[in-house]
Amino acid sequence: MTTTASSARLGDAPEPGLLDPEERMGVDELRALQLDRLRQTLRHVHANVPHYRRAFDAAGVHPDDCREPADLARFPFTGKAELRDNYPFGMFAVPREQVRRVHASSGTTGRPTVVGYTEADLDIWATVVARSIRAAGGRAGDVLHNAYGYGLFTGGLGAHYGAEKLGCTVVPVSGGMTPRQVQLITDFGPRIIMVTPTYMLTVIDEFEKQGLDPRSSSLEIGIFGAEPWTEQMRREMEERTGIHAVDIYGLSEVIGPGVAQECVETKDGLHVWEDHFYPEVVDPVTGDVLPDGEEGELVVTSLTKQAMPVIRYRTRDLTRLLPGTARPGMRRMQRITGRTDDMIILRGVNLFPTQIEEIVLRTPGLSPHFRLVLTTEGRLDAMTVEVEARPDCPPARRAAAAEEVGRAVKDGIGTTVDVVVVDPDTLPRSVGKLKRLDDRRRRA
Ligand code: DLL
Repeated sequence: MTTTASSARLGDAPEPGLLDPEERMGVDELRALQLDRLRQTLRHVHANVPHYRRAFDAAGVHPDDCREPADLARFPFTGKAELRDNYPFGMFAVPREQVRRVHASSGTTGRPTVVGYTEADLDIWATVVARSIRAAGGRAGDVLHNAYGYGLFTGGLGAHYGAEKLGCTVVPVSGGMTPRQVQLITDFGPRIIMVTPTYMLTVIDEFEKQGLDPRSSSLEIGIFGAEPWTEQMRREMEERTGIHAVDIYGLSEVIGPGVAQECVETKDGLHVWEDHFYPEVVDPVTGDVLPDGEEGELVVTSLTKQAMPVIRYRTRDLTRLLPGTARPGMRRMQRITGRTDDMIILRGVNLFPTQIEEIVLRTPGLSPHFRLVLTTEGRLDAMTVEVEARPDCPPARRAAAAEEVGRAVKDGIGTTVDVVVVDPDTLPRSVGKLKRLDDRRRRA
């Protein structure tokens, strides 16, 4: 059952009959639906969540002031701080008894962020994830290997119920125990894998360690998200495995995975499922709404959630909105370049880990496994890129590769970094989201 990325059926658009009616709507029809749902959501939170009532009053706005989607810009933003201040259940808009499930962010700093779902919310979530898997090329009857983490993280259960709703056979592996991941893929023959891109790399390495060719596995589709990744990484994974690698986006505060999804037939950014989520892009500093096409911070308003709607949630993710293609009515968001809080300012120059990923991956001899170590040298910050050589990289090539990365960073980004090429399989691996940055700077 070996199929390659060139298989005719997979790259084709789904037959129109397979799509949800909303996926076939034109822009005008969709805007009317959004306005209706937006007004309902604003009224719902104003009536049921004290935080929103106070915040709307303080901004001098009322749900009735929203007469077209653009009026949303008059309403206040919501951020992680508001969710933390109302910990744990203060942002719920329904009695707790109607909440069927909660999820929470890891909360590495302070209190975790808690989110809740009614039965109807869980059904909407499964619907948007099912739609996402279908847009990625998945169909009812497929076996789907789900290596997103199960638990409070939304990745595992979010993917799980979406896949079941589409009609897939789900293998709920979760993350970790990498040799077993390879065994189950070999034995169960899944067509689809859902996993973070960095953990997929670990799984691919494990295939090779076991002497297996990842290109001859049953996998045809990888649905990768929960952390930033680049076009170079897509090429790396597609070439090494023969699968189609597509991007899925989401965040727990908005629902989880399934806010936006890349369509396999175009691979040109992620269609936002606009019947459930209203996107805006704002200037991260001033908060002003930017016209479509300009890069800024993504802000999302939920349109159909009951238990914990969010109004103008600041995601901190940087992207731009583009017109729809494979789903003409729904706007696309470009793949995320990074988060405002992942931006490294090195000697006055702004830099994102994805920029380093692009450079590393186009340098012969280097693997995609790298980390960024920040230190203090004298009174200045310094950064070292530690990157693993590929197993077949001749030792003599390492110094040249390091120099090429250093030069590309200097020429392309405009700052100086040290580059150290280390032995294969020596840098830490993650089983989910990888922490690329190791910040060892002295704090003043
Ligand atoms: O990561 C939900 C998810 C699970 C999405 C599985 C996709 C697949 P959180 O843990 O709340 O939720 O983290 C959300 O992860 O604000 C982004 O910074 C980042 N992120 C999620 N998807 C992508 C992506 C899940 N496709 C945060 N590209 C978001 C880049 C992503 N970053």
